[in-house]
Amino acid sequence: MDVPADGDRPTDLPYPDVDELEAAAARVLPEHVVGYFRGPTGAYGIPTEAERWSQLRFRPHVLRDTSRLSLATTVLGTPVASPVLVAPMAQQRAAHPEGEVATARAVRRRGVLLGVSTNTGVRFADIGAVGAPWWFQVYVMDDRAMTADLVQRAAAEGATALVLTVDTPGVDPRRPQLEPRSWPERYGMQANLPGGDTGRPIFSGTRNLSVDDIGWLHDLTGLPVVVKGVLRADDAVRCVDTGAAGVIVSTHGGRCLTQSIVSADALPEVAAAVGDRAEVYVDSGLRTPEHVAAALCLGARAVFLGRPVMWALATGGDAGVEELLGSIDTQLERVLRSLGAGSLDELGPDLVV
Ligand SMILES: Cc1cc2nc3c(=O)[nH]c(=O)nc-3n(C[C@H](O)[C@H](O)[C@H](O)COP(=O)(O)O)c2cc1C
Repeated sequence: MDVPADGDRPTDLPYPDVDELEAAAARVLPEHVVGYFRGPTGAYGIPTEAERWSQLRFRPHVLRDTSRLSLATTVLGTPVASPVLVAPMAQQRAAHPEGEVATARAVRRRGVLLGVSTNTGVRFADIGAVGAPWWFQVYVMDDRAMTADLVQRAAAEGATALVLTVDTPGVDPRRPQLEPRSWPERYGMQANLPGGDTGRPIFSGTRNLSVDDIGWLHDLTGLPVVVKGVLRADDAVRCVDTGAAGVIVSTHGGRCLTQSIVSADALPEVAAAVGDRAEVYVDSGLRTPEHVAAALCLGARAVFLGRPVMWALATGGDAGVEELLGSIDTQLERVLRSLGAGSLDELGPDLVV
């Protein structure tokens, strides 16, 4: 895959306005779809993840050479033009008829990487054909043989890592659901099941998991396994000890245990505990280039964006996602220069309080 050189990418994109994107998406999408995408975050007086990221303050350096700053990095060995990646999200065809295919096109043009949910309505082959690097997010179903078949086909179609989601033993009943009558004609639920789309979620919760499943998934596919939904140092160490190549510090965007510690507060202890033994990523509530910069300073090798991408997809399709990612990247460069960072390697926790 070609990673666009920094000089080839536009540098004059405006500051991203995710709130405006969300409002615009709410004008074009059915209400139940918007409700499902938003989830229960921010309800019941709980401060949002985004608010917590915004509370962090930078301690910038000055008088440093930042003229050669580049956002390019690698994730599990895959070169990416930016550490801002796209989170796996179910039901992207509810946002846009092409769903993940459109997202993948934008991701390829930006030179980054996307996660693809177990509950995608798009076939692996169609995502793979776009040519963007992608990781397959796994919900381990009660039917292990079906799960094995699914991950092996994802690997065969080009997924380069498996993302094992571990934080969803059940779905919060306050989370609005997509209305079943809208499946599968428009959205589809899981386009990749051996028996074809069931037209209903196959999700059986993450109750049936243990750390041994990291090795099980690796042995099935030979792919590195990243554990998503880790919020404690001891759990992160257990994952790495049993073979995880990475962990994603995540509250699932506040969609599961709505009153958990937020990612911004969990990231430092996880990053410190994991050190160089595996890669640490973060998601949940990142809405601005400053949020991304803070996450990189606190130890994330890369970040994943969820809902902002969904809103951009709904309002502008692949061009909308490309513009969102582009504006975050260009403004992230400016923020990092304001921190006195000459490279991503110079970011560290001392830059944030
Ligand atoms: C509509 C929607 C569907 C999602 N579906 C999945 C999923 O199928 N599997 C998963 O691991 N995470 C899923 N997530 C969580 C995202 O991967 C990610 O953790 C979260 O969206 C990040 O927070 P943010 O939306 O605030 O950026 C979903 C999130 C949203 C908004």
